[in-house]
Amino acid sequence: MKVFAGNSNRLLAEAICNYLNLPLGKATVRRFADQEIFVEIGENVRGEDVFIVQSTSFPTNDHLMELLIMIDAVRRSSARRITAVLPYFGYARQDRKPGPRTPISAKLVANLITEAGADRVLTLDLHAGQIQGFFDIPTDNLYAIPILARDVKENYNLKNVMVVSPDVGGVVRARALAKRLDCLLAIVDKRRDRPGESEVMNVIGEVNGKDCLLIDDIVDSGGTLCNAAEALLKNGATSVTAYITHGVLSGGAVARVTSSMLKELVITDSIQPTTAVQSAHNIRVISTAALIGEAISRTSQEESVSSLFD
Ligand code: R5P
Repeated sequence: MKVFAGNSNRLLAEAICNYLNLPLGKATVRRFADQEIFVEIGENVRGEDVFIVQSTSFPTNDHLMELLIMIDAVRRSSARRITAVLPYFGYARQDRKPGPRTPISAKLVANLITEAGADRVLTLDLHAGQIQGFFDIPTDNLYAIPILARDVKENYNLKNVMVVSPDVGGVVRARALAKRLDCLLAIVDKRRDRPGESEVMNVIGEVNGKDCLLIDDIVDSGGTLCNAAEALLKNGATSVTAYITHGVLSGGAVARVTSSMLKELVITDSIQPTTAVQSAHNIRVISTAALIGEAISRTSQEESVSSLFD
């Protein structure tokens, strides 16, 4: 088995290799003067089981193209099997047509990865589980919930914890964490009572006096998160912490989080943290390297991956 990485998340790729006790494969990913991407695999991969770690995070299109070109280079070098490891799968939010004459870009990206020559995909907390069906090759969707739940247990008195979904769409994910922690569940519901009136955040559940844990798959602008935190505090919550798998944190999101009432935002390293994230006083990053490393090892040895979550 060999593990290679593009430029999006080398720190995580190195940590995964550390877990697997393997050196990170030698590959150069660089640019021509006109910004075309050029890849050179620096070691023999003939007959190997190859894993390419690359999050399609910002700059999404560059990172996606790097992944496609790396897959092509490895395929043309006669690897036995290629697994695209996407700790963060960009474009996942475009998983259906929101209106007429719009694309389903998540499906297009799945087609590109398959067409480039990937035999399998390994990813983490897909925005919607059904995206697995966009690939006609085996796809394993890992869950960060066991890692997040362990962190909650180490840092919170579970007797006073309430798990909260920041919107109605995230209830299934929040319920899974609440079940694992044996805690109660609340939901923040954004609603416009009458056309023309502004949206109101309604909290479904008794959060008064509770330490609320917001759970979501993505924090991007931070809007969903900070609005939900405000609504919970207005309804009497003692504190609000957020556990979110993918720290996309675009634009002014880090500043929004640091100046918010959030006690802490806990994200994973599925997207490589920027220096702003690393120095934010209320953002903490926990690692997925052991989870992804173990899933890679089991894939390579044809062992069960789903039993990681039993
Ligand atoms: C939406 O369905 C996702 O689960 C997240 O809630 C959303 O992407 C967060 O975006 P933002 O941080 O920009 O509100």
